[in-house]
Amino acid sequence: MKVRKAIIPAAGFGTRFLPATKSQPKEMLSVVDKPLILYTVEEAVQSGIEHIAIITSRGKSSMEDFFDQSPELEQFLEEKGKLDLLEEMKRISKLAEFCYIRQKQALGLGHAVLMGEEFIGQEPFAVLLPDDIYDCPTPCTRQLIDVSEEKGASVIVLGETDEEGTRMYGIVKPKKISERVFQIEDLVEKPGPEKAFSNLASLGRYVFTPEIFEGIKKTKPDHRGEMQLPDGVKFLIGKQPVYGVIYEGIRYDCGNKMGFLEATVSLAIERPEFSHRLKDFLKSLEL
Ligand code: UTP
Repeated sequence: MKVRKAIIPAAGFGTRFLPATKSQPKEMLSVVDKPLILYTVEEAVQSGIEHIAIITSRGKSSMEDFFDQSPELEQFLEEKGKLDLLEEMKRISKLAEFCYIRQKQALGLGHAVLMGEEFIGQEPFAVLLPDDIYDCPTPCTRQLIDVSEEKGASVIVLGETDEEGTRMYGIVKPKKISERVFQIEDLVEKPGPEKAFSNLASLGRYVFTPEIFEGIKKTKPDHRGEMQLPDGVKFLIGKQPVYGVIYEGIRYDCGNKMGFLEATVSLAIERPEFSHRLKDFLKSLEL
């Protein structure tokens, strides 16, 4: 079945980015000149997604304005003859069909995904976390959808990680199917290096069959009172095959300040208008 819908959870507090996120959503922080959420939505659309539910919370309405039309701004740009910018504003407001679902309390990523159950209905769907920018020749979510549509199954993105990563991410027990594709036999959230099954981590992109919702509902809140997504994935693994794909491309973890800085420098260097001057500037710092 074709994957047409996506959920983008964006209702968290973004505490790692305080004070920047005290009065603006983390998802609206800009890398170069685009907010994180725009990178995510563009990846979804380039992967074939047509309908997107963004999970939001209080203080996050700037995301809704961002993907809406802005007649006054558009008229202003037209009058000033800034036609390239005008086209770009129009493009953004036409990217996809959006709906916004409120998560009243930040009860965890699993709970945020569960908010989208009615929107999804009975079809496979993608989940994209806006923390991660994937810069890939084939959009990361598309890499997952290709395997999901072939196998008719849930697929999560995998990436190699180090010791530190085993304390930050869900780590999988993989059974190799082909060069980049694995069947997932188990998944443990933040096991640490001693208990990690492998060096393959689950990194913020998923395609799920709708049975995931049953799994999330069966999930008990963790010690912080949050319903986590990996518990739902574990339930799914017990019911049907779940696959993992090692992504091809580059991933920037923009959920923390260092990753955000790395993304800003790397993606600015990729842009012709900044490339030379930024490289010269970095050299001038004589690090
Ligand atoms: P994070 O684990 O990064 O949490 O969530 P956070 O609140 O955004 O940031 P920190 O850790 O406090 O700095 C990953 C994604 O899941 C969403 C977040 O908005 C983020 O996009 N999320 C998390 C929700 O939508 N609801 C939640 O209850 C928790």
